[in-house]
This record gives sequence, structure tokens and C-alpha cells, in this order.
Amino acid sequence: MVISPMTFFVVVGLLLLVLVVANLWWRRESRRRSLPCPTWLAGFLEGSLMDWVLGTQTTLDRIGLRPGQRVLEVGPGPGRLLIPAAHRVLPGGEVIGLDIQPGMLERLKTRAAQAGVSNLTAIQGDATQPHFPPDSFDVIYFCTVLGEIPNREAALRECYAALKPNGILSVTEIFPDPHYQSRATVKRLAEAAGFRPEVIYGHWYFFTANFAKA
Ligand SMILES: C[S@@+](CC[C@H](N)C(=O)[O-])C[C@H]1O[C@@H](n2cnc3c(N)ncnc32)[C@H](O)[C@@H]1O
Repeated sequence: MVISPMTFFVVVGLLLLVLVVANLWWRRESRRRSLPCPTWLAGFLEGSLMDWVLGTQTTLDRIGLRPGQRVLEVGPGPGRLLIPAAHRVLPGGEVIGLDIQPGMLERLKTRAAQAGVSNLTAIQGDATQPHFPPDSFDVIYFCTVLGEIPNREAALRECYAALKPNGILSVTEIFPDPHYQSRATVKRLAEAAGFRPEVIYGHWYFFTANFAKA
């Protein structure tokens, strides 16, 4: 069967339109109820190609992890960032991943074991609820997660309580993630939770904003 150029462009245009509408719907609904990135999409967050596309090492450089730190990632998914983060905090440091979906945590644990990582703990829970004693962490970071949480304010308040004095909150956003949050929104939400802006790295389409617990 031969497809005319016209038919080809109409089909591609319709597919793009469906994708854009689905993204907008997902984004809008996520403000009202929890609709996390499904576990079957975890594969899109794994592998060296995705590390390059999503700037995994650049993000970790910007967060500024150091040996000996105790670090929490909110919404680690299959561990694209958390597994290399576990290496970066050695010797003496440890990393914890808090994710709302058991399926993501199973994938994270399997991949951490395959990578020979032993200083990583996976915890299931909703970031808007308290899970840790006050002053537990040197660094808490989010990457393409904040917009998936309907009550972003509550999640950032929990982070504030769980960070040590002068601890770092780091938020990375990547366009066109359906839940992308702008730099202005991230700054507004972080300041409302009590954080002090420190530095913003990158451009609007891939940025990391770091804040300190005031
Ligand atoms: C798009 S994935 C990002 C994974 C990882 N941060 C990365 O950049 O590769 C978002 C993750 O956030 C998790 N998540 C969504 N809402 C959450 C919540 N309220 N508390 C904890 N984790 C949540 C999802 O289950 C999912 O694993």
C-alpha cells in the first residue's frame, strides 16, 4: 500500500495532537489527584541513552553531592539519578529513595543490586506525609517529580522539616515533561515553604534550582 505525502502528514499531525492533548489533560488532572508516571514507563528512564538525553550526570553535578552526605530523593522511579548518587556520597554517605509506587521501588531495588550499591534504601510513601524525623538529611532533591504531586506545598513543607539546618533542597525540571514546573513556580513554592534561594543552573527547558533551609 502506498501512502500519499498528504496522508502521511495528516496522520503524523493527528498523532502529535493526541500526544499534546493527553499531556495537557495529565498535567491538569495531576493538580487535583495523584496520577504518577506509570511503572510501565520506567524503561524510558533507564539506560545510557536516556542518561545522555536527560542529563543525569549534569543534574547530579548541579545538586552538588559530596562524600559522607545523607541524601533523600523524592520520586526516584527506577533510580536513574539515585543509583549514581549512591556512588557519589561514598565513603560514609547514604541515599534514600521515597516513592509512592511499589512497582518503581521494586525496579529501583533490582537495579541497585545489579549495580552493587549497598548504601541505598527504598521507602514507599507519599511525599506529602511525614516519614522522617526532623533534621535527617543534608540534601533532598526532586527531578521531574514536583508537578506530579497534587499538594506540592505540603511536600516541600515535609522536606523543610526533614532537612538539617542549612541543608539543600534541589529541584530539577525538564521540558517537555507533562508536569514541568517553571523556575518562577519552583521559587515561589520553595520560598513559601521557608527556603532561601541559593542558585539556579541551566536554561528554562532544563534547570536545577537549589535552595537552603533558612
Ligand atoms: C517522572 S518519574 C521521575 C523519576 C526520577 N526522578 C527521574 O528523574 O528519573 C516521577 C516519580 O515520582 C513518583 N511520585 C509521584 N508522586 C509522588 C509522591 N506524592 N510521593 C512520592 N513519589 C511520587 C512516581 O511514582 C515516579 O516514580
